[in-house]
Amino acid sequence: MTVTVHFSAPPADWPEYGPHLRAALREAGIDAVLSSGPADPSLVDYIVYAPNDALTDFTPFTRCKAVLSLWAGVERIAPNRTLTQPLCRMVDPGMTESMVEYVVGHVLRHHLGMDEHILHQDGVWRHEVKPPLARERPVAMLGLGELGRACADALRSLRFPVMGWSRSQKRIEGIDCHSGAAGLETVLKQARIAVLLMPLTDETRGLLNAERLALMPEGAVIVNPGRGPLIDDDALLAALDAGRIGHATLDVFKIEPLPPDHPFWAHPRVTVTPHIAADTKAVTATRVIAENIRRGEAGELFLHLVDRARGY
Ligand SMILES: NC(=O)c1ccc[n+]([C@@H]2O[C@H](COP(=O)([O-])OP(=O)(O)OC[C@H]3O[C@@H](n4cnc5c(N)ncnc54)[C@H](OP(=O)(O)O)[C@@H]3O)[C@@H](O)[C@H]2O)c1
Repeated sequence: MTVTVHFSAPPADWPEYGPHLRAALREAGIDAVLSSGPADPSLVDYIVYAPNDALTDFTPFTRCKAVLSLWAGVERIAPNRTLTQPLCRMVDPGMTESMVEYVVGHVLRHHLGMDEHILHQDGVWRHEVKPPLARERPVAMLGLGELGRACADALRSLRFPVMGWSRSQKRIEGIDCHSGAAGLETVLKQARIAVLLMPLTDETRGLLNAERLALMPEGAVIVNPGRGPLIDDDALLAALDAGRIGHATLDVFKIEPLPPDHPFWAHPRVTVTPHIAADTKAVTATRVIAENIRRGEAGELFLHLVDRARGY
């Protein structure tokens, strides 16, 4: 049987994704008609969807069996009431690898105090400033899902003491796992570096507020490749100005692109990266999409289903 797969993402993405999607569907043994651009919604079986696409009304897609997101974060689409079909988010091995590299890179930068030497090649022999060993610098991973878990494992393999925090209590070898409000307090009080890898939901919005930032050790560092609104920007700026928080490396923001006049750009204790921590990789992601379409056609459970009530 032939299925119709509609690629609903900004047109500029199609030349990259089209050939990979075609190949992945073929590999999965799926006979598919692919469309991008205008399509007859009543003929579409699966929508491959990027949440920055113009499509927001799913009502006309009466035959659609699932919407397969190209993004890991689904906060823009999960609340959409016109979407009544199953929604799957992206869990892409290529994206995970990329996030591990970003997080390990930025954690090591701060741990080793690299800026001190990279930015000050001025003839001064700064021999007195030496980093401790990784084993002496506790790192908090807020979010222990697909990405947080992989980053926690990588940091642990470098011997950082890693504490994790998640909604449900986890047991992970080598990671000191916590949950709940008291667990967050315990983790933040010890974290010299905190990495945020949580989804944006009603519960996580504004999670790192003034009160919680004040729990962190003096000079602690924040790395946020999760979502901008997880942090209260004003509270963060105040903590950075006061030197309570030593540095923030931020990849995600309330408004993206971050406006040129936003105080983060000029702040000496902030590093802005332009939402580049972990892009979806077409070659690996399209295999995940194809596997989900295979499952849909075989009557099997979809992978990476979003719990719409929970928001992720
Ligand atoms: N910057 C980038 O390039 C980029 C790329 C990809 C993704 N992201 C962001 O990274 C986020 C995480 O992705 P993922 O694939 O790791 O997601 P995931 O597998 O769904 O994991 C989310 C983690 O957050 C925890 N969590 C959710 N709500 C919570 C709450 N209220 N309190 C405590 N913990 C909570 C979950 O707890 P449970 O385990 O108990 O469910 C889980 O451990 C995405 O949602 C997206 O926003 C950014």
